[in-house]
Amino acid sequence: MGIDALEVASLLSQIEILPMSMVNLPEVMDIERLCFPSPWSKSSFEEVLTREYSHAYVIKGMHQGKYRVIGYICFWMFLDEMHILNLAIHPKFQRQGLGYNLLQYSLNLAEKRGIHWATLEVRKSNYVAISLYKKVGFKPVRIRHNYYLDNREDAVVMEKIIGKKGGDTHGS
Ligand SMILES: CC(C)(COP(=O)(O)OP(=O)(O)OC[C@H]1O[C@@H](n2cnc3c(N)ncnc32)[C@H](O)[C@@H]1OP(=O)(O)O)[C@@H](O)C(=O)NCCC(=O)NCCS
Repeated sequence: MGIDALEVASLLSQIEILPMSMVNLPEVMDIERLCFPSPWSKSSFEEVLTREYSHAYVIKGMHQGKYRVIGYICFWMFLDEMHILNLAIHPKFQRQGLGYNLLQYSLNLAEKRGIHWATLEVRKSNYVAISLYKKVGFKPVRIRHNYYLDNREDAVVMEKIIGKKGGDTHGS
């Protein structure tokens, strides 16, 4: 799944984060299917793109001579809360700091919009994502038992205070 150093250098020099649009959905769906055992349907993404409080961004980069979607994030923001719904980086481009950048970009955006805390659920077994979320200041606050319908896996609920107190948890 790795990519050579030259490709990484070329990719990283041309990275851009843009709002997701309907035209991105075929590429987004390809990544979604590669990354998740129970991928979101196209209509789930369409709903995010049309709902008032939902937001979605893609990270694009040059790959094999073409400017492509290599990852995405979906979240909603309402009043003072942000909830992260989905985040993925194409397996071929993972471990290059792109997930961190996309997440940090979204948290910065939320802070500018006056959001005070962020929440998410993540599969208990997904130590890679849990590690990423901890890196940006999320803390595990509780377990939701049997949360995922496909295999009854528990979810870890994580929270982060956004802004000056970043790193502290909300409640619990
Ligand atoms: C989770 C995911 C988005 C991370 O994206 P990424 O671009 O590979 O991550 P980054 O390179 O930005 O790494 C940031 C941090 O994540 C963690 N991380 C990333 N890959 C990791 C790995 N293979 N093993 C352990 N930790 C890892 C580390 O804490 C890392 O920080 P470090 O480099 O200082 O150690 C990506 O692995 C992915 O798309 N996974 C499949 C979909 C998924 O699980 N999404 C989350 C749903 S809640």
